[in-house]
Amino acid sequence: MAQHNQTKAIRSQMKRTEQKEHSTPLFLTSSFVYDSAEDMAAAFADDSLDVNIYSRFSNPTVDEFINKIAELEGAEDGIATGTGMAAVFSTFMTFLSQGDHIISASAVFGSTHTILTKYLPKWGIESSYFNMNEPESIEALIRPATKMLYVETPSNPGLDIIDLEYVSALCKKHNVLFVVDNCFATPAVQQPIQFGADLVLHSATKFIDGQGRVLGGVVVGPKDLINQLYLFVRNTGPSLSPFNAWVLTKSLETLFIRMDRHADSALKIAKHFQHHPKLNWVKYPFLETHPQYEIAKKQMSNGGGILTFELKGGLDAGRTFLNSLQMLSMTNNLGDSRTIASHPASTTHSKLTVSEKQAVGITDGLVRVSVGLEHVDDIIADLEQALAKA
Ligand SMILES: Cc1ncc(COP(=O)(O)O)c(C=O)c1O
Repeated sequence: MAQHNQTKAIRSQMKRTEQKEHSTPLFLTSSFVYDSAEDMAAAFADDSLDVNIYSRFSNPTVDEFINKIAELEGAEDGIATGTGMAAVFSTFMTFLSQGDHIISASAVFGSTHTILTKYLPKWGIESSYFNMNEPESIEALIRPATKMLYVETPSNPGLDIIDLEYVSALCKKHNVLFVVDNCFATPAVQQPIQFGADLVLHSATKFIDGQGRVLGGVVVGPKDLINQLYLFVRNTGPSLSPFNAWVLTKSLETLFIRMDRHADSALKIAKHFQHHPKLNWVKYPFLETHPQYEIAKKQMSNGGGILTFELKGGLDAGRTFLNSLQMLSMTNNLGDSRTIASHPASTTHSKLTVSEKQAVGITDGLVRVSVGLEHVDDIIADLEQALAKA
């Protein structure tokens, strides 16, 4: 009987052990033992044997987490990493070589931007940026050396959205690998492989954990690509810890119900504040005023848990607003059960130049809210009183 993904997120589990546990077990072990010297020799001789050797290579708890994400994203296979950035970096390192070129949306997470502009050039890998609001500009950037196209949709923190089907058709035409960071949507809301993405990656630290406890990353896609990534991770060591994998696999059991509530509340809050006198605008993927609202409706099942707005008072208003919050947390994380407000211009993106900030849509008054699971009226009340002071 074919199950819904929401059910699979709860019911997919490794084979029950002889202890007959109900909740999934945690294999907190660095290595595994063998019945004989011959078995041990065979495990090392043949990389393709489905046998656990060492938790940098594989671990049953980590595998359960990978398999669940792969299933939810509609992918054949996956690998897990210690952080989202390790997933991004491992993907770049595995599929890009000296002389290659990567095209990326300019609206990507700050550390991804740093890898593209500071580290990849050290190995002779060039990058070009395009504006998410001008996808028709992408094709002209493609060169014979272009190997990868990279996007986040919705983007962090600008909430720009790109038509995945349009970009994947371009990538197929030019034989370019299409990689999507699906961290803001999660597979409960958007499955980029359905729209033609080759590889999908996540910072599992965000909505997948959902309670701000552990760091983690994951990449899923076709077996042949994942096998190349697996060998990179196995040998260079950015592997996910089994403990964090156990936390994350348990978190997936509540992912769908959490994302529904995050999105319901975020839409209510966006609508409540969209004409507020202290704000220039409110942006949320499922608000009709979002520039890519129609694309969001096509490829996302709800608008996700993040909204942004711009304070009329700029940098000073941003600081006063944050200092006036009574319940909302002031922290840079997102995708938590607790509502979080952040002011990128004075914090996470303060090192970007003015033109770099402009390119990724970060203005002085921009506030990002990661809507949590508290009662929506309490979130609105705290935002109201802080806005009154800003
Ligand atoms: C869209 C996106 N991708 C990647 C990352 C990096 O993830 P991590 O902090 O788990 O390394 C983040 C972190 O905020 C993010 O928001």
